[in-house]
Amino acid sequence: MSPTPGDAQDLLREAQEIAQLGNTEFFVPDNGVNYWSPQVYRMLGIDPAEAPSHVRIFSGLHPEDRDRCLIAWSRAIRGTGRLDLSYRFVRADGAVRHIEARYRLSRAGGGNLRAVGTLHDVTERKDAEEAARRAQARLDEVSRLATLGEIAAGISHELNQPLAAITNYARACERLLAAPRPDHAEIGAALGEIAAQAMRAGEIIHRLRGMVRHRETHRTVLAANDLVRDVLSLLEMDARASHSSLRLDLAPGLPQVLVDGVQIEQVIVNLVHNAAEAFTSSNEAAGEIVVRTAVGESGQVEVSVSDNGPGLAPGVEPRVFEPFFTTKAEGTGLGLAISRSILEAHRSQLSYQANEPRGARFTFTLPIAPELS
Ligand SMILES: Nc1ncnc2c1ncn2[C@@H]1O[C@H](COP(=O)(O)OP(=O)(O)OP(=O)(O)O)[C@@H](O)[C@H]1O
Ligand SMILES: [Mg+2]
Repeated sequence: MSPTPGDAQDLLREAQEIAQLGNTEFFVPDNGVNYWSPQVYRMLGIDPAEAPSHVRIFSGLHPEDRDRCLIAWSRAIRGTGRLDLSYRFVRADGAVRHIEARYRLSRAGGGNLRAVGTLHDVTERKDAEEAARRAQARLDEVSRLATLGEIAAGISHELNQPLAAITNYARACERLLAAPRPDHAEIGAALGEIAAQAMRAGEIIHRLRGMVRHRETHRTVLAANDLVRDVLSLLEMDARASHSSLRLDLAPGLPQVLVDGVQIEQVIVNLVHNAAEAFTSSNEAAGEIVVRTAVGESGQVEVSVSDNGPGLAPGVEPRVFEPFFTTKAEGTGLGLAISRSILEAHRSQLSYQANEPRGARFTFTLPIAPELS
């Protein structure tokens, strides 16, 4: 059954209500013909007994939106066509509604401008958008803080090693100076080490920030064996502190690798540090730490650090690479996590195997530099 004209009117009104849509007609200058649909009254919280007038709408505009609307109207009434406006309307009870208005402007008789428009109450959508924006801003803030936390944790972890070295060398200097005839050459060497370690600390800060923030790396073509030799003094210091011996087993004639040298050195230092700590924390008799380079199965350069200490404690293996996982009272549990993320940035993996006949072995590969032909 098709609706009668009366039904169609009702349907239209109901549809407008559902859509929070009102319609209006008025003339500029005001010729007394003014129409607001009932929904306009409800939307703007205006008493239905009040006569419709566009001046009344202007007076309810949010103060911050008033000038913008006035300017738009004064431009629009010079011509015809369409005017789209969005503004906040402050109801008599103080509630603020977000309105999107669309007008079609045409010339009427007597030089008047006729405006036919729809007003759409989009408050709920705007509120949802605002809530989403606020949630996003909070999320950004939280992830920024998390990043800062990561940087801070990472920096403090990585800096411990050069700082410990600096302290040791400084103490050695004090002892050497206290001798009746101080050995200048030895003091000079220790001071040189202090300077080198301080430089290293600075570089670590620089790179760590880059790594965590932008994942930026500085890859250069290097010899893997040189990376090991560069940090030898740090590795030897770790070995000495744990009363273990350090052995290098560096394969000759390895292809060059394309890596961020400082980062890879950091990985080697972390692994040797862990091996040394495994001896000290288990009070084991002197053991051996081996740093080995070799050509891996797929032709890449393979680096491994192994020890013949106690090996991973039972149940620890699945968790060793988790950030903040540690079995040490003083550990941060970041050494292996940072090392793994450095290697992942190099498209490499850090893996653990039990060492034969005992102890732990950590292995990773390094990408070969492309041949220059
Ligand atoms: N060579 C190893 N022998 C035995 N256990 C090891 C060895 N290397 C790592 N582990 C175990 O893995 C855990 C995590 O190592 P990771 O380097 O990530 O942190 P950490 O050494 O505990 O703390 P940090 O490196 O901050 O000092 C260690 O606590 C230890 O239990
Ligand atoms: Mg560690």
